[in-house]
Amino acid sequence: MIIPACAARRLSISALAGALLLASIALAPSRPIFAQPAERSNEQLLEHMEAMKDSLKAVAMGLSTEASPESLIPHIVRLQQHLLAAKEMRPVSIDDLPAEEHDAARLRYRAKLARALRDVANLEIELATGDADGAWAIIAGPLLKSRQAGHDEFQLED
Ligand code: HEM
Repeated sequence: MIIPACAARRLSISALAGALLLASIALAPSRPIFAQPAERSNEQLLEHMEAMKDSLKAVAMGLSTEASPESLIPHIVRLQQHLLAAKEMRPVSIDDLPAEEHDAARLRYRAKLARALRDVANLEIELATGDADGAWAIIAGPLLKSRQAGHDEFQLED
């Protein structure tokens, strides 16, 4: 991702590293329109996840083009709505576990998404108080970590 020089000056080195890290995830092309869905997939959950990615990408782009942090709040609201919906769903990977482990796995899934929601609430606080560097720190730190932890446990291998 090319970050305008004026924005790069404003960002601390760690925030810049965060931007690059996020870009590798958020700016990855969406699934091609004609791609077949994964053989086993919760299509509705996948749609919420794709919408979450788009919202986060919009926030990252806004921050890197020096949009006012407050103007990005509508994207945060959308991200929160899709996170909330995803939290109430059930990833298909749980079916691979023995039946007696399903309830515990469902609770771990819920807790991980609740953590991601907490990260996004903290991100909203940084944006609402106009702190772009603080917002980057949350995106590149706790939020990416929550995403990684969720995918490590619940996303099916390709
Ligand atoms: C802001 C944080 C997150 C973003 C932006 C995000 C984004 C995505 C995206 C784009 C996909 C589609 C496949 C891919 O490109 O990897 C996906 C799939 C998935 N994500 Fe997330 N994710 C986040 C957090 C989480 C968390 C915390 C969990 C679990 C607690 C989770 C569970 C899953 C599952 C289970 C799938 C596969 C859905 C299926 O195919 O049935 N994600 N996510």
